[in-house]
Amino acid sequence: MRSILLTCLASALTRYAYAAGVTGVAEGFAKGVTGGGSATPVYPTTNAELVSYLGDSSPRVIILTKTFDFRGTEGTVSGTGCAPWGTGSACQKAINKDNWCTNYQPSAPKVPVSYDQAGILGITVKSNKSLVGQGSSGVIIGKGLRIVSGASNVIIQNIMITNLNPQYVWGGDAITLDNTDLVWIDHVTTSLIGRQHIVLGNGASNRVTISNNFIDGRTSWSATCDGYHYWNLYFTGSNDLVTFKGNYILHTSGRAPKVAGNTLLHAVNNYWYQNSGHAFEVDSGSKILLEGNVFQNAGQAVEVSSVSGKIFTSPDSNSNAGCSSYLGHACQLNAYGSTTSYKGTDQSFLQYFSGKNIASASTASSAQSSVPNSAGHGKI
Ligand SMILES: *[C@@H]1O[C@H](CO)[C@@H](O)[C@H](O)[C@H]1NC(C)=O
Repeated sequence: MRSILLTCLASALTRYAYAAGVTGVAEGFAKGVTGGGSATPVYPTTNAELVSYLGDSSPRVIILTKTFDFRGTEGTVSGTGCAPWGTGSACQKAINKDNWCTNYQPSAPKVPVSYDQAGILGITVKSNKSLVGQGSSGVIIGKGLRIVSGASNVIIQNIMITNLNPQYVWGGDAITLDNTDLVWIDHVTTSLIGRQHIVLGNGASNRVTISNNFIDGRTSWSATCDGYHYWNLYFTGSNDLVTFKGNYILHTSGRAPKVAGNTLLHAVNNYWYQNSGHAFEVDSGSKILLEGNVFQNAGQAVEVSSVSGKIFTSPDSNSNAGCSSYLGHACQLNAYGSTTSYKGTDQSFLQYFSGKNIASASTASSAQSSVPNSAGHGKI
């Protein structure tokens, strides 16, 4: 009897040990990503430990059980910036980073700026890492994450990143990818970010899955001066493959996302809610498939004046033969409520999905009921 009890206890403990790690697997282009794999979990307790675990060359499963606050750790910088959208208190101001104000906003009023240096550049994340929050306790304040310079096989799951100089354009990006492969960003909440919530830079990001995240655009400092964040998601790069599924995009006013640089984007079962301005910017070279998404009180689903890439919005069930041929399923219709819809009929690029790992698609109405409750950190 006693030995049976002990055996049960041992197996329960083993299960608990396994539970400290990534939940589920990536769907879509980053399918197969393993991050730190079966490495013994580590539990950083200080900012320095967190930075070290993310930046060393060992495969790691890094579990966050607390808040890591980087504000003030690199000092405060004061200087002269600019106010391209006006000096009103609801307007974001800009840091003169790389002479941006001087070169691009010469006629904007000059204003004093004072910002936290730690927010400007994120923590370097090397290859073969899983960064996972426990419950809703994994929070990083005042500094983002940078997966760059050839890093591959990285999972970021169930954490919150917040408060990166939200008053200032160029105040910091929450998650940056540039020159990467196989990255999965899942169940992450980002809020109060100065610049982009998620940015895929000019270098190839290759295979990326961005799923179940909460992009919270509510802010007191906006480039559109209306409480809605403008810089949200920027997907560029060289032939990047991006699966964007199950994300909740709240209270944004633009670039949600801006897509450029030959990016092939599968945007499926996402929920845009309460957005001013536009969601999609369709730049030259972009190839975008929208299916099963919901746009509710979301302004313009697509910024019509910007469309210079290719976009298929699965406008009716009779016209998506290309989906069945190249994605292996009939594309789902998108749903628009109090939103300017967009009819994108270009199927000429759907062939590029052929042979790739493709995320499944459910109906827009099922996304509408599930996404607001399942997206973001603290939900798995
Ligand atoms: C990451 O893990 C893979 C598979 O184990 C290995 O081949 C590769 O060298 C690792 N990368 C780094 C940078 O350690």
